[in-house]
Amino acid sequence: MATNVKPNELNYDHYETKKYDDDIVRSIPGHEELHRHIDQIIQRDYISRGKVKVLELGVGTGLTAERILGQMPNAEYTAVDFSEQMLAGARRRLSQYNVTFVNGDYSQIDLPNDNDLVVSIVGIHHQKTNKDKKSLFQKIYHSIAEDGSFIFGDLVTYKDRTEAALNEARHYHHLVEHAENEESLREWAHHHKFLNKLAPLENQVKWLREVGFKKVKLVYQKFNTALIYATK
Ligand SMILES: C[S@@+](CC[C@H](N)C(=O)[O-])C[C@H]1O[C@@H](n2cnc3c(N)ncnc32)[C@H](O)[C@@H]1O
Repeated sequence: MATNVKPNELNYDHYETKKYDDDIVRSIPGHEELHRHIDQIIQRDYISRGKVKVLELGVGTGLTAERILGQMPNAEYTAVDFSEQMLAGARRRLSQYNVTFVNGDYSQIDLPNDNDLVVSIVGIHHQKTNKDKKSLFQKIYHSIAEDGSFIFGDLVTYKDRTEAALNEARHYHHLVEHAENEESLREWAHHHKFLNKLAPLENQVKWLREVGFKKVKLVYQKFNTALIYATK
């Protein structure tokens, strides 16, 4: 398994937490709506379970984690990221919760097992090849308890070339419309064109089923952004 970038190649690896937070929300179409869907899944399927064991892959500065922990403050939460700069922001943001922080590349390290929930939002597109992405899905599947799930949000593309082109155009249009300034636009456009390795949504749904998830549901989609809820 392999990640296509080193942490210091990511534009936001050198950002202050606040700049990262502003930029990621602006740069990912549907970032807020996607998170509202995560809130609903947590309310519907997890809050009533009592103590929940959660593993987040690519915690960033903790934006997603804060929403989950805000609803389940007693969760036993492990947060993995390979960027120390991002982890520093997450440590500050999540200091009141029971979180174990792990600095490591999730495609390389052993993952804790028996998780009720694995979450990964906008990070797995940095797995180099389709094979790497599918292998990571397999590894995630094995880290989940029998009645657990995987909430997977990411930037994706589409098998149909016209759909792929159209949604890529919409993604760049969104960047042009929402970037804070020219420098930000330059950085995020570069990141999207040269660092993001998007795989077709249809293939990723298929791989999730092939590694063993029984129910794989597309919960939200906007341009290249998608949220999948996969249950064992
Ligand atoms: C774009 S952020 C998303 C954070 C948060 N979920 C959000 O939506 O704001 C993705 C994070 O994944 C991390 N990441 C990407 N590939 C990784 C890998 N292979 N191992 C560990 N962390 C990784 C990056 O360092 C980054 O902090």
